Order: sequence, then structure tokens, then C-alpha cells
Amino acid sequence: MSATRKSVLVFRELPDDQLARIAALHDVVVANPRKPDRKAAFEAALPQAQGLIGSSYAITPALLDAAPRLEVISTISVGVDNYPVAELRRRGILLCHTPGVLTETTADTVFLMVMAASRRVVELANHVREGRWDRNIGEDLFGWDVHGKTLGILGFGRIGQAVARRGALGFGMRVQYHNPQPVDLPELAGRARHLPLDELLATSDIVAATLPLTDATRGLMGPREFGLMKPGAIFVNGGRGATVQEPALLAALDSGRLRAAALDVFATEPLPPDSPLRTHPRVTPLPHIGSATHETRHAMARLATGNLLQALAGERPQAVYTG
Ligand code: DGY
Repeated sequence: MSATRKSVLVFRELPDDQLARIAALHDVVVANPRKPDRKAAFEAALPQAQGLIGSSYAITPALLDAAPRLEVISTISVGVDNYPVAELRRRGILLCHTPGVLTETTADTVFLMVMAASRRVVELANHVREGRWDRNIGEDLFGWDVHGKTLGILGFGRIGQAVARRGALGFGMRVQYHNPQPVDLPELAGRARHLPLDELLATSDIVAATLPLTDATRGLMGPREFGLMKPGAIFVNGGRGATVQEPALLAALDSGRLRAAALDVFATEPLPPDSPLRTHPRVTPLPHIGSATHETRHAMARLATGNLLQALAGERPQAVYTG
């Protein structure tokens, strides 16, 4: 590691042990610009900053102009949609992220949404909590089987593949996916079919999106796409909210085309107070918890911290974003 202390701006809180790793080698300012009382400190630290580490805040080209010494941004996320990737490349600023360590946890979250929407878990828990369980429930509150259904996965990166394993091997589902390229998964032994988007939508009982946000995926699920889905199907989103046109999703729910939706991600986060997705009776909304377990968030912080320290030492970080 380099002996020269550099300036690091931590723009989202890190666990103490990871902050200590950085502070042992570099000068650190912790300032989360999403907190109104820390925004000024964030802006004041940008001109000196050689390394940035954090997540959930859009780093714009204007912010980069204010940070002329910047060498590396280490995001504590696998997704990089908060960063101007081409602009960073043009300026020679390294972008690192946290692939791999959150795959299984995020796939668990996608699968819990599949289960929750199908078996009406939140609605039925509220039925009990609100004192309405005064006799055996009737058909009006019955759920829908998950086993034996066809699961269509949009996006077949690490997380989509981990969702496929859960569906095919754990729940006896037929699994199909849409992805630019077919993926050979020996552990599924031919049990995941690669399909064009329209065919996948028309033949899946449950569609689970695990898409990153790119120019190609922004607004991908619109009125035409929801209109292609099987009547009574379920839609789940564990990728990025802006891949879905939310008014089209709401229209598909209200028209009865879709049975239910479970969403961990939204076009705007946190979900605005007036969003109908907050209270829609057939939507299970979650506050972007895909990777939010103690173990996984710590693993992400460790990987992001390692990436930052390696970059500042002039070494090749473990996880540089190369997409
Ligand atoms: C990610 O890592 O991109 C997850 O969405 C958590 O933010």
C-alpha cells in the first residue's frame, strides 16, 4: 500500500471497522449528502477528494467538475446507474462496485416477493393483526400456488440465475428467461429456457425482473409489455424501478390483467408520499431491501473498502466495473 495519505470522502455511512481501515491510511471526511445537515460538508470536501465511497446518491458530471483530484469512486452496490459511466471513463476515474457478494441475498428477496405476492402474505398478516380473523378464511382470501408454475426471469445475470435455481430446483417451477445472450447453466441441466421477450411475457405465470438500469432497459415494461402478460399473472421487480413504466403497471393491476405485483424498487426512491404504489391493495411494496441483511451489507462494505484502498494504492481493485 502507498505511504501517501490521500483524501477520501465517505458519502454513505460505513461500518466502523471499514471506516477504521480507511482512516488508518487516509484522511477521511464522512458526509452523506442525503442528510440535509451534511450536504454542505459533502460539497466542501469534493475539491480535495481523491477517493469517493458510498451509494444511493447520483454522482453527476457537475459534481465531478467540483472534484478535479478524483481517482476512484467505489460504490457499495452492484448497480452503477447512479454514476455517469462514460464520463468517468473519459476523465480516467476508476469505478468499482460489489458484484457477487449480494447475489444470493438479493435472489432470496426476489423469491420472497414471488411467495408474498402469490400467497398474499402481507394482506393475510394484516387480516390477523387487524382482528379480522374471526373464522376460517374463505376463497376470497386464498392464494395461488407457486410450485408447478412457469417463472419468467427478465435479465439473467448472477441474480437472475440464482432466482432460476430457487425456482427450478427448490420449487419445481418451469423456468424461462430473457437475456441478450443464452446462458449455459450446468446445474440447471437445460431446465431454464432462453426466450424472446414477447414469448416470455405471454407464457409466464410469474414474471420476475432482475434487470440493471441501462439505456436498453429503461422503461422496458410498458403498456404493450404488460398487455402481453398472461391474464392473472404476477409481476415482481427486484432490479431497478425505472425499467418499469409505473403508470402502465398500475393500469394492468386496475384492469385486472395482473393478479398482483411485488416491488422492491421504484422509479423514485424513497417512494413519494402520493405514489399509488404505496397503498394499492394488490401491490406488496418493499423499501429496496434486496441486499439488506447484516451479513451481506457488511460483505458489500468490505469489498467496496478493499476496492477503494487498492485503487488509491495504485493497485488493480478486486471489482472494477467494466460493463
Ligand atoms: C445494488 O447493490 O445495486 C442493490 O440494488 C442495492 O442498492
